[in-house]
Amino acid sequence: MTMLITGGTVVSATGADAYDVLVDGETIVALLTPGSDLATSAAAGAERVIDATGKYVIPGGIDAHTHMELPFGGTFASDDFENGTRAAAWGGTTTIIDFAVQSFGQNVQESLDTWFAKAEGNCAIDYAFHMIIGDVNDASLKAMDVLVDEGITSFKLFMAYPGVFLSDDRQILQAMQQAAGNGSMIMMHAENGIAIDLLAEQAVARGETEPVNHGYVRRAELEGEATHRAIQLAKVGASPLYIVHLSASQALEQVAIARGNGANVFAETCPQYLYLNLEDHLGAPGFTGAGYVCSTPLRSKHEHHHADLWNGLRTNDLSVVATDHCPFCMKDQKELGLDDFRAIPNGIGGVEHRMDLIYQGVLQGEITLPRWVELCATTPARMFGLYPKKGVIQPGADADIVLYDPDASWTISVENHHMNMDYSAYEGFDIQGRVDTVISRGNVIIENEAYHGQAGDGQYLRRGLSQYLV
Ligand code: URP
Ligand code: ZN
Ligand code: ZN
Repeated sequence: MTMLITGGTVVSATGADAYDVLVDGETIVALLTPGSDLATSAAAGAERVIDATGKYVIPGGIDAHTHMELPFGGTFASDDFENGTRAAAWGGTTTIIDFAVQSFGQNVQESLDTWFAKAEGNCAIDYAFHMIIGDVNDASLKAMDVLVDEGITSFKLFMAYPGVFLSDDRQILQAMQQAAGNGSMIMMHAENGIAIDLLAEQAVARGETEPVNHGYVRRAELEGEATHRAIQLAKVGASPLYIVHLSASQALEQVAIARGNGANVFAETCPQYLYLNLEDHLGAPGFTGAGYVCSTPLRSKHEHHHADLWNGLRTNDLSVVATDHCPFCMKDQKELGLDDFRAIPNGIGGVEHRMDLIYQGVLQGEITLPRWVELCATTPARMFGLYPKKGVIQPGADADIVLYDPDASWTISVENHHMNMDYSAYEGFDIQGRVDTVISRGNVIIENEAYHGQAGDGQYLRRGLSQYLV
């Protein structure tokens, strides 16, 4: 089917211009000057014309960090691939890169197959995988090479969670050397988990068991230290490094120094670290703060993390905004830690709200309109080997297109979200702008405030190597 999107402003990572976008089947075939002969004849010949007057026409969002059904702390993230990807679509995201997990003692390929089975036939939008290597050993190091050939070109390691996911420095260096050999990207959860566990134990021994203590013991210095160590190890191992869910100024400073020295070091942050804080959210009265327990943690509003992170998004020391979508319900899930913050499953759901929340940064003068698109779609595509199929509106790209209405306004609430969560971390946030229409590979899946897709529309994406590596 041919489709023409007329009258909108096409926003790319480099600018915003009036274009009509012609789609044939699953692919964008032309950007046409409105009113030109070509546009007029395309409109006459198209099977469907969508009027985008007054709207931004942007590439579908790419959320490079999600955890559908992640097993964590004796429970599972509450969104499965079907519900989570549908919620993503509602929010203007048309691709997710989720994390398959190799836990300690497990085989990497078998673990990956489990994740393929969870996702296949269930996704509303296209999906790809990173692989968490939770047990670096000879077999998993070899498996990294095989996975690269299968389109899994990035591997997450943990400096946190001793006894669960933590890799020691020897293992980290080994994995980095392997990545240097096969061209893949090492992603790092950079927090000093051994020091954090000591502080957590001491806090609980003092009777400090409420959720806010999660933030107190996961000190910003320990994110800064781990980030520094990861960067030095990557230098020795000669591998590229991507720091996930960066929240602390101290960590950003390390990334900025490394990048200033020309290192292949990159970092992402997430909306929760730009908009939520330790005192008001994690420290909310009673057990409410449990809904804000995530790692790295929310940082203090009395320090300058928020302002520094926005600055990092401008300078490109932070080059991606992902969500780290890892939802848990308060009932029966977050409640596991009623008596001890260490037992609260770590994670916040937000896959549905990333595009809207970061667009507020455009309105607040923190970033430009093209930068919004770059952070949320174009750079994630380039960083993780999906470009130019994804992340851009240009001939030859997949027709993953969002019509965004800058004039709409609404309020985020558990009452109107589509994620499988019994609360919203952004409850009451007023949003200017709204996703109006979502097209995934030429298929209109969100329109007129209704979902028109189905489970299984989304396809697995074999990724190439990162295009940022020199
Ligand atoms: O709290 C978080 N971030 N949960 C998900 C697992 C991770 O470390 O990304
Ligand atoms: Zn992590
Ligand atoms: Zn994560």
